[in-house]
Amino acid sequence: MRGQARAPLAAAALAATAGASSLADLCTVSNVQNALPANGTLLGIELIPSTVTANTVSNASVSSMFTTSSDTTYNYCNVTVSYTHTGKGDKVVLNYAFPDPSQYANRFYVLGGSGYSLATDPTEGLPYGAVGGVTDAGYDAFSKSYDEVFLYGNGSINWDATYMFAYQALGELTIVGKPLTQAFYASSNKIYTYFEGCSDGGREAMSQAQRWGTEYDGIIAGAPAFRYGQQQVNHVFSSEVEHTLDYFPPPCELEKIVNLTIAACDPMDGRTDGVVSRTDLCQLNFNLSSTIGEPYYCTAQSSTSLGFGFSKRQDSSMSSSYEPAQNGTVSAEAVAVAQTIYDGLHNSQGERAYLSFQITASLGDAATEYDNTTGSWELDIPSTGGEFVTKYVELLDLDNLSNLDNVTYDTLVDWMNTAMVRYMDSLQTTLPDLTPFQSSGGKLLHYHGESDPSIPSASSVHYWQSVRSIMYNGTSANSSLDALQDWYQLYLIPGAAHCGTNSLQPGPYPEVNMNIMIDWVENDVMPTRLNATVSSGTYEGETQMLCQWPSRPLWHSNSSSFDCVFDQGSYDTWTYTFPAFKIPVY
Ligand SMILES: *[C@@H]1O[C@H](CO)[C@@H](O)[C@H](O)[C@H]1NC(C)=O
Ligand SMILES: *[C@@H]1O[C@H](CO)[C@@H](O)[C@H](O)[C@H]1NC(C)=O
Ligand SMILES: *[C@@H]1O[C@H](CO)[C@@H](O)[C@H](O)[C@H]1NC(C)=O
Ligand SMILES: *[C@@H]1O[C@H](CO)[C@@H](O)[C@H](O)[C@H]1NC(C)=O
Ligand SMILES: *[C@@H]1O[C@H](CO)[C@@H](O)[C@H](O)[C@H]1NC(C)=O
Ligand SMILES: *[C@@H]1O[C@H](CO)[C@@H](O)[C@H](O)[C@H]1NC(C)=O
Ligand SMILES: *[C@@H]1O[C@H](CO)[C@@H](O)[C@H](O)[C@H]1NC(C)=O
Ligand SMILES: *[C@@H]1O[C@H](CO)[C@@H](O)[C@H](O)[C@H]1NC(C)=O
Ligand SMILES: *[C@@H]1O[C@H](CO)[C@@H](O)[C@H](O)[C@H]1NC(C)=O
Ligand SMILES: *[C@@H]1O[C@H](CO)[C@@H](O)[C@H](O)[C@H]1NC(C)=O
Ligand SMILES: *[C@@H]1O[C@H](CO)[C@@H](O)[C@H](O)[C@H]1NC(C)=O
Ligand SMILES: *[C@@H]1O[C@H](CO)[C@@H](O)[C@H](O)[C@H]1NC(C)=O
Repeated sequence: MRGQARAPLAAAALAATAGASSLADLCTVSNVQNALPANGTLLGIELIPSTVTANTVSNASVSSMFTTSSDTTYNYCNVTVSYTHTGKGDKVVLNYAFPDPSQYANRFYVLGGSGYSLATDPTEGLPYGAVGGVTDAGYDAFSKSYDEVFLYGNGSINWDATYMFAYQALGELTIVGKPLTQAFYASSNKIYTYFEGCSDGGREAMSQAQRWGTEYDGIIAGAPAFRYGQQQVNHVFSSEVEHTLDYFPPPCELEKIVNLTIAACDPMDGRTDGVVSRTDLCQLNFNLSSTIGEPYYCTAQSSTSLGFGFSKRQDSSMSSSYEPAQNGTVSAEAVAVAQTIYDGLHNSQGERAYLSFQITASLGDAATEYDNTTGSWELDIPSTGGEFVTKYVELLDLDNLSNLDNVTYDTLVDWMNTAMVRYMDSLQTTLPDLTPFQSSGGKLLHYHGESDPSIPSASSVHYWQSVRSIMYNGTSANSSLDALQDWYQLYLIPGAAHCGTNSLQPGPYPEVNMNIMIDWVENDVMPTRLNATVSSGTYEGETQMLCQWPSRPLWHSNSSSFDCVFDQGSYDTWTYTFPAFKIPVY
């Protein structure tokens, strides 16, 4: 089978549903009610037939960050149904979109959300001939974000919402959706089951691989916001560095340092194209001190603070702030801030607590705020980290941390430790043993923008290393690598930012991940590189077949081809231990 040309996406449908009914015939309340898994078949889940709704939707268009088809429209059956957990008296609403039977391709697709939101649109699977679904997770996730319901009141955690958001609601959406799909179409064919997401959607993807591994055939996880305790507190780290060093750089000064770093490190990968494809070589060979004294200038502007779309509430409260023209030369103080951020959090004993953004990543979390009255730049704690500390660590119903008085690096380490331990079996999402997923044939495609300024790309590398060492302990380096790459592949995206391209580096971005995954799962065509396209700049339109981790790209002097190479010195820059914590950090 391997190497066989890809079948048209919907080809399987013809055989599956030949002679079957029309969408209108199937899209009835009674067909759905009859198709519900009976009470007692899914342990702990009782579906409530009286809650079923079903209506046909015609000519719907679908577009999202993952599905590019915007011209095509789809007819589908919009179904909602509720269930309760046995004996609990709660109610969880599910919403599925069933494609027209002529387009149904024996697929089920779940999309991840972002920030504190689960996805709310079930139609994203339609371009793949897949049934898609979304869940309200029992806390009205269609209209509320999880951080809004996390606390009942100060000190009182809503654990039901926490476990549902962390992994349970999505897993239940899938275990209900698959038998419902088979019965809806009266088909007994295998249902190929996929999950795709980026940022918190990437964490959700990993949660499904870790907790519901046997349910999925293919999982695509982008820049996962996992290792939650460390990751969310880390959003306060850049501010803490400024607070500790008592220097609050104008944003233009930090951006200049980043731009000069990109310019200096761009050629180290063998091609000068505005993209640093080898941040490891940059880290090994570039000294940020060389930017001291370089002039910077930015015009006055109204800018919006970088919230990274982290939470619904924060998005709506994100206000634009005024920045005056900034004109100066890069100072030693600003370089010290940048270097300390890139070095990552250490406690006062000098022990490492966390990894950091790759050198060349923009320093968004370090953005300061201009005080109009004093004419100075001041601390601006990112709400991503600030809210996490007040709510999830301190358990106070506040949306931000108003200052860093008395806060030290050790305080950050304590916050990380508290959150890691408290959410170890819910949000932390770094279980490194994926045996159930792997042994049932699951495939995992994991990718991360190498210059991500929100979730460090090294965070993904560390998890990959954890899975490798936990699952293949005792096997040689080469054989563990071969065995792992058969089902779990990691790709770093040169120059890319958080779940997207980077305005400072016109690099490639993968655009056909689902097609690649479908080929891998259904046609046994295992990828060895990742198909990505450059969408701006001199090389716009160029296809780059990205290197699979741990191999790294090295261009042939300014040509249009590169090799995937391995060198231990580069690899070592991506390898971390975290002795500031007493327990293993996967
Ligand atoms: C399954 O259990 C739920 C909750 O107890 C109940 O509302 C529902 O009617 C049951 N379903 C069937 C088909 O009896
Ligand atoms: C859907 O589009 C087709 C083709 O344009 C058109 O004939 C049909 O009336 C549309 N249906 C609805 C319900 O809008
Ligand atoms: C799908 O069904 C739900 C429940 O009836 C309804 O609220 C929603 O508007 C429907 N969506 C579409 C696109 O028809
Ligand atoms: C950094 O580079 C970007 C993109 O080339 C440019 O738009 C921006 O003005 C530069 N920033 C500074 C401070 O020079
Ligand atoms: C970078 O250069 C500065 C100034 O020359 C020097 O003090 C520092 O040790 C260098 N850093 C590294 C990591 O080599
Ligand atoms: C920035 O300041 C320098 C030194 O004062 C001056 O020569 C230069 O014209 C200024 N640049 C802008 C764009 O204002
Ligand atoms: C404060 O900022 C506003 C623009 O938001 C500007 O109109 C005003 O002149 C500024 N005041 C001072 C003292 O700079
Ligand atoms: C929760 O704690 C915060 C911080 O101490 C306090 O400002 C707020 O009033 C408290 N809320 C309630 C409902 O007591
Ligand atoms: C931070 O939270 C406090 C308490 O909820 C609020 O009074 C304050 O306005 C908030 N500050 C910002 C910058 O959002
Ligand atoms: C910081 O610590 C000092 C000395 O222990 C104390 O007086 C002060 O109240 C603390 N400030 C805050 C905001 O906790
Ligand atoms: C295997 O496990 C041991 C003990 O936990 C650990 O020290 C070692 O590094 C692991 N081996 C690999 C290849 O990860
Ligand atoms: C990369 O994907 C594009 C879009 O699907 C396709 O046209 C191209 O042939 C692919 N390139 C390779 C080398 O697979």
